[in-house]
Amino acid sequence: MSVLVTGGSGFIGSHTVVELQEAGYDVVVIDNLSNSSPKSLQRVEEITGKPVKFYQVDIRDREGLEKVFAAEQIESCIHFAGLKAVGESVKKPWEYYENNIGGTLVLVDVMRKHGVKDIIFSSSSTVYGDPDTVPVTEESPVKKCTNPYGSTKSMQETIFMDIQNADPEWNIVLLRYFNPIGAHPSGKIGENPNGIPNNLMPYITQVAVGRQPFLRVFGNDYPTPDGTGVRDYIHVVDLAKGHVKALNRIKAGCGLAVYNLGTGKGYSVLEIVKNFEEASGVKIPYEIQERRAGDIAVNYADPSKAAREMGWKAELGIREMCADSWNWQKNNPNGYGD
Ligand code: NAD
Ligand code: UFG
Repeated sequence: MSVLVTGGSGFIGSHTVVELQEAGYDVVVIDNLSNSSPKSLQRVEEITGKPVKFYQVDIRDREGLEKVFAAEQIESCIHFAGLKAVGESVKKPWEYYENNIGGTLVLVDVMRKHGVKDIIFSSSSTVYGDPDTVPVTEESPVKKCTNPYGSTKSMQETIFMDIQNADPEWNIVLLRYFNPIGAHPSGKIGENPNGIPNNLMPYITQVAVGRQPFLRVFGNDYPTPDGTGVRDYIHVVDLAKGHVKALNRIKAGCGLAVYNLGTGKGYSVLEIVKNFEEASGVKIPYEIQERRAGDIAVNYADPSKAAREMGWKAELGIREMCADSWNWQKNNPNGYGD
């Protein structure tokens, strides 16, 4: 029996395939390669020494999915496939709703037709909007999102909750990720954004290898100790391990479960710059600019529910996150090179 990983050649997916294989799971990956390189899975094979079964299939393609379910013995699914660029989603809302929500509906329908009712879904701390208090717990209110990408995440959560409510045979774990950074310590896989990075760490690493001249720090007048935005950065390997733990919850028959995956500690933009400089020995020039529209001052998790119920806790700190992001980028200055 295999775990189906949608979006498995992407950033978080590829790291999760490594952890699944190392925990002894058989894995089947589907991805349409719209935002990833097939090389990532070759690198996964180099890391684990095990082959990865891959189908280039779009989750909106019902026939393509049917073929995978007919050919493979799928027991559960980890669902990463989706579009994720906040700014792009504002310009292309239809594409985001159609891909993320349309795709999820097709996937879930094909799953249930094949009697597969166990799924882990990649949600996001974005569902908390601008939280009234931090750290946020799973009981903190879910707020209206400021962009279509965020709305697809909260709508997908609602869809999964309603499906599980209507049919309690489903076991569904919604994982709300905080800010994943870092890379596998081998330096073979990592984040490989298309074009100019939107997120902080890939931007910093591209400055470090000379692909960008300097970092633009979006605002230093937030109500935080140094005025720059504070986030809960989590090492992608810790995040990947969270999915392996979540599979145990599914096997235990959890019904519907929601977990924050974060470290519980917030770092400001300037603290990340300083930690990165110390870990890499490379100076990161920066300029303070205007706040970015839609950004919030502070967000970090209370991850204690995941510790209590899944026995999961982030183990890697900011130093490892910075060192591993740098190790990936310096060994692969152009990502996977395609
Ligand atoms: P990613 O873009 O690297 O991976 C997503 C993968 O899904 C890509 O390989 C892409 O080609 C694939 N894909 C997209 N649409 C598809 C479709 N219709 N059919 C098949 N494959 C499709 O992104 P990531 O950072 O690895 O994120 C994985 C998931 O986690 C996404 O759902 C994302 O929204 C969510 N998430 C990411 C973050 C983050 O900061 N990286 C934070 C919270 C949640
Ligand atoms: N930042 C800069 N300069 C940059 C990029 C970011 O100063 O070039 C700042 C931002 O203003 C923010 C912090 O760095 O204060 C983190 O920004 P990111 O773009 O890396 O991450 P966000 O917290 O804005 O959002 C990301 C994803 C969301 C997701 C969220 C939690 O884009 O979709 O993480 O997972 F919901």
